[in-house]
Amino acid sequence: MIESFEALEEQINSCTACQLHESATHKVIMKGGKNPKVLFIGEAPGKNEDASGIPFCGRAGKILDDMIEDMDIQQNDWAVINTVKCRPPDNRRPRKGELAACRAFFEKQIDMLDPDVIILLGNTAEEAFLGNRQLQWGECREIDGKNVVKFYHPAALIYTKSRQPEQQEFIEKNSTLW
Ligand code: URA
Repeated sequence: MIESFEALEEQINSCTACQLHESATHKVIMKGGKNPKVLFIGEAPGKNEDASGIPFCGRAGKILDDMIEDMDIQQNDWAVINTVKCRPPDNRRPRKGELAACRAFFEKQIDMLDPDVIILLGNTAEEAFLGNRQLQWGECREIDGKNVVKFYHPAALIYTKSRQPEQQEFIEKNSTLW
């Protein structure tokens, strides 16, 4: 049984459960506080994350940082993880088998971080967390005592700027959650 973040990190670093580990430079585990109020869940590491081992450290990370600042969440009150810990080649979406291979780590992280609010960044995070796509845009659902909401993935906001006001409005409406 994994009892500490260090033990979890060791297990992830030595994992060979799916093919993604073969091309990964670094496993990308988490960023943020170990006892967060808000947990953001992204999709998968990209090129910058693979090179550094740090989630959301590239362009999408800058958008996420701005979003966190805008939400007025203090340092240590948030954390971010991904559905898989290794970069899928060419930044493709993680496959079902890869999500399944990483599932125990994903669940353990959520369990250990035990946030009050979970923010699913896009469809892959929603599918990994809920098993399928269920949330309506703007919906907040209580699951196991946690408030779960879905945001657009920061990368989607880069490519479709017209979604930004919609997301901004949702953030303003729900600010009492975090
Ligand atoms: N996109 C993600 O979903 N996760 C990262 O860590 C970086 C970009």
